[in-house]
Amino acid sequence: MCLADIQLLRYTWLLWLPVASSGNIKARHVVFPIMKVCRGGITSHFVRNDYLSLDMPIDSDVFRVPPGYNVPQQVHITQGDNEGKGVIISWITADEPGSSIVLYWAENSEFKSQAQGFYLTYKYFNYSSGYIHHCNVENLEFDTKYYYEVGIGNTTRQFWFKTPPQAGPDVPYTFGLIGDLGQTYNSNTTLTHYELSSAKGKTILYVGDLSYADDYPFHDNVRWDTWGRFIERIAAYQPWIWTAGNHEIDFAPELGESRPFKPYRSRYHVPYRASGSTSPLWYSIKRASAYIIVMSSYSAFGKYTPQYKWLEKELPKVNRTETPWLIVLMHSPIYNSYVNHYMEGEPVRAVYEKWFVEYKVDVVFAGHVHAYERSKRVSNIEYNIVNGLCRPTNNPSAPIYITIGDGGNLEGLATAMTEPQPSYSAFREASFGHGIFDIKNRSHAYFSWNRNQDGYAVEADSIWLRNRYWGSSEEASLAALR
Ligand SMILES: [Fe+2]
Repeated sequence: MCLADIQLLRYTWLLWLPVASSGNIKARHVVFPIMKVCRGGITSHFVRNDYLSLDMPIDSDVFRVPPGYNVPQQVHITQGDNEGKGVIISWITADEPGSSIVLYWAENSEFKSQAQGFYLTYKYFNYSSGYIHHCNVENLEFDTKYYYEVGIGNTTRQFWFKTPPQAGPDVPYTFGLIGDLGQTYNSNTTLTHYELSSAKGKTILYVGDLSYADDYPFHDNVRWDTWGRFIERIAAYQPWIWTAGNHEIDFAPELGESRPFKPYRSRYHVPYRASGSTSPLWYSIKRASAYIIVMSSYSAFGKYTPQYKWLEKELPKVNRTETPWLIVLMHSPIYNSYVNHYMEGEPVRAVYEKWFVEYKVDVVFAGHVHAYERSKRVSNIEYNIVNGLCRPTNNPSAPIYITIGDGGNLEGLATAMTEPQPSYSAFREASFGHGIFDIKNRSHAYFSWNRNQDGYAVEADSIWLRNRYWGSSEEASLAALR
C-alpha cells in the first residue's frame, strides 16, 4: 500500500467518523473532504460560487467613457523595446483622429519631451473602430518614474509609469500573472485583488484571452472597447506583456472576417521586431532579471515554421548571467489535468518541451483552462516511437508549468478534473484569482496564487523556485545571502 492509498483510506475514515462519534470530530469532517491527496499532488475540491460569471452591464462604471469630446480612452502601455528603455503607449479617440503625440517627462524634471505616434482604424463586420493610437517612447532612463500626457486641448489625460531597472542577475522584480480575464464581476474582483495586493506587482504577464468579445453575436467589438476601458486603471500605469489566446483569433469567414487576430493586432502592439521576430504573436523581452519569451499557441509551430525558426535562434541567445530567470508565456498549457482543454497543448509539447529542458526554462505560464494548476518539475522527452517511454518523469532541468487562466471570464470555471490526479500535477483548484512571481535574486523567486474569495494578502498556493541555471551553484547561494 503506497502513501497515496493510505491517504485515501484516511479520507474515507474521516467521512465515517461523524456518524459514530461526536464532539470535535465534526469540525474535522468539514475540513478534510475539501482536500484530497492522491497519486499526484493536491486537488482542492472546494467548489467556488460561480454566480458572478456574467459580463458586467455595458453601462457599468468600470466601462465609463471619460468625459469630454474625443478624449483619449482605453489607455494602455507595454514594453516598447527589448531591454526596458522603451514603452509603447496606446489609446483610442472615438470621434476624430486628434493627436498621436505623447508628451512625457521624468519625475522631478522640468524638461518635457514629446514622441510622435500614429493611428489606425479597422472594420470588423458591422463595427468600425475608433482611432487607435500607438506611440513608441524610446531611450528612457532605467528605473525612473515618468509622467505622460495624451490628447489635445481641453481633453488631455495624464498618467505615469516606472521603467524597470537595467537588466542584471540580482535585480529583484515582481510580476503579476493574469489570464483569461474577460469582463465579468469576477474579472473586476481579480483586478482589484491585484491592485490591492501587498506584493505590489510592477508588470503584468498576461497569458492570453482578453475581452471575450467573440462570445457575443457577430463578435461584437464594442466589447473590445469596454474591456479596454475596464483594464485602463492598471494598464495605463504598468506594462502588460501580451500573449495571444484563442479568443484573439476572431476568425469568422461567415461574417466576411477571415484575417486572424485582426482586432487584437490592431489594438495591442508589442515590440516583436526588437527580438528579431517577424510576427507580433511571438517575441521576447528582457525586464530586470527576467528574460520573457512569448509564444503563440495558435500560429504554425512545427519544424521549419517562422515561429520554430525564431525560437531555435532565440533560446541560445539568452544570457543567464545577465537575465537568470527564463520565463515562457503561452496560452494553451502543455501540462493540464483538467477535463477542459485536456491534451490541447500536446502538439506544442511534442515540438518544444525538449528545448525547455535543454535551456533550463524556469517556469512556463499558460492560461486557457479557467482554473489554477501548478505542476511538478517533469518532462516527457524520451519517446521515440519504438521505445514506449511516454510518461512524464521528474526532471530537475525541467520547468514548472503553471496554469493561471482563472481571471474570471463569462465562460465560468473549469471544474471537471481528470481522476486520479496525474503524477505531474502538484496542486490544482478551480477558483478564480491571479498570481505573483516575485524574483528575489539570481537563485530564488517566490510564486504565490491568490484566489478571489480570500483576502488580498492570503496565499492559496505558493512555492519557492530555485533558478534552473543558478539555483544550485555556490555563487548563487552567496548571492542569496547578500
Ligand atoms: Fe483560451
